[in-house]
Amino acid sequence: MRSPINVDEFRTLARRRLPRRIFDYVDGGAEDERGLRRNRAAFERVAFLPQRLVDVSKRDMSTHLLGQTIAAPLLIAPTGMNSLVWPNGDIALARAARRAGIPFVMSTAANISLERLAGEAGGELWYQLYVLHRDLADSLVDRAARAGYRTLVATVDVTLNGKRERDLRNGFGLPLRFTPDACLDALAHPRWTYALLRNGGVPTLANIESSSSASIEARAALLRRQMDASFAWDDLIRLRDRWPHRLLVKGILRADDALRCLELGADGVIVSNHGARQLDDAAATLDVLPAVKAACAAGGALLLDSGIRRGSDVVKAIALGADAVLLGRATLYGLAVAGEAGASRVIEIVKDEIDRTLALLGCASLANVDARHLYPIEPIPLRGSGQRASNAAAPSA
Ligand SMILES: Cc1cc2nc3c(=O)[nH]c(=O)nc-3n(C[C@H](O)[C@H](O)[C@H](O)COP(=O)(O)O)c2cc1C
Repeated sequence: MRSPINVDEFRTLARRRLPRRIFDYVDGGAEDERGLRRNRAAFERVAFLPQRLVDVSKRDMSTHLLGQTIAAPLLIAPTGMNSLVWPNGDIALARAARRAGIPFVMSTAANISLERLAGEAGGELWYQLYVLHRDLADSLVDRAARAGYRTLVATVDVTLNGKRERDLRNGFGLPLRFTPDACLDALAHPRWTYALLRNGGVPTLANIESSSSASIEARAALLRRQMDASFAWDDLIRLRDRWPHRLLVKGILRADDALRCLELGADGVIVSNHGARQLDDAAATLDVLPAVKAACAAGGALLLDSGIRRGSDVVKAIALGADAVLLGRATLYGLAVAGEAGASRVIEIVKDEIDRTLALLGCASLANVDARHLYPIEPIPLRGSGQRASNAAAPSA
């Protein structure tokens, strides 16, 4: 295949390069994967209403976010086990982000230590927190602050892991087990297997396994690899008190939750359904964005992810009130194909599509894009069933 020209073509190549169970871990969603389709459908339902005769000869997509200017309204989302996709995947992604002038969010389930990433990658680094156990979480938060991270992202949509049926079918889990099928799969992907073996074998959860938190319960939580499902508002307040820098809450879909996060002192929220990997029928993020935006009118950063594959998706999210978006699988497909260079290429492609969309929309700057540039398409009547979707124009009886 020639070099990929869009995210979907990177996905096709990633599917070829990765063993099936690794590709499925990256690509898959929960249960019937309706959420994956719903995330995309939400973007597809919205069309543009371009403005004409506007001077768009100079265009600007730089973005103000939490007191800083970033080159584009993009971040690389936190994703765990990136070294299964490419050797030292966390460093490769962080470097691609730095090159593009955008933040990289390091996952709690990263494969290198957060101190090493800060030392080797540079750039604007954020740290994402999963609370497996309170002591463990406290020690990670303190380490992140000491290592120079200045934005913490608390992920709150994983009270337990979603039912990802591709992973169940493939026997994918941690620790990675090499069943006969998995060995055959690895042999069929020699480049990936060679790279894994050359770089220390199966990656570990470097931060939590090396954590100094020695309590018996913390070790037990780690072994179970399950979240602390009792984490609630009081704990968020505690976290706010402990972390002295910027705090965002990721996994918010409701306006009331968003408002409460801000009232408790969070600096912003990330509207996310975890890329449809948790609750299959959770609402699509673009659909709930206007309500969350209205709740956050008084302030606070508003970010969005789940389903972004095109620059035009980014512009639609900005038009509906997001300050910036996170790329999850898009940059992982790039990483799978060519490491840092592949992730960089994906970001360039998305940036180029944002720029093109702005020009064709008649907007010189992203700051000028708003809902007046959108034209919502009504749901299409179900063919042959004689039924119409409820809000399609139907003659009254
Ligand atoms: C392979 C993979 C691993 C992920 N790991 C994490 C994680 O460790 N922490 C987290 O907050 N979100 C995690 N996510 C969710 C992403 O941060 C993000 O919300 C999601 O990928 C966005 O959807 P998209 O992939 O459609 O862009 C993961 C997503 C994927 C695909």
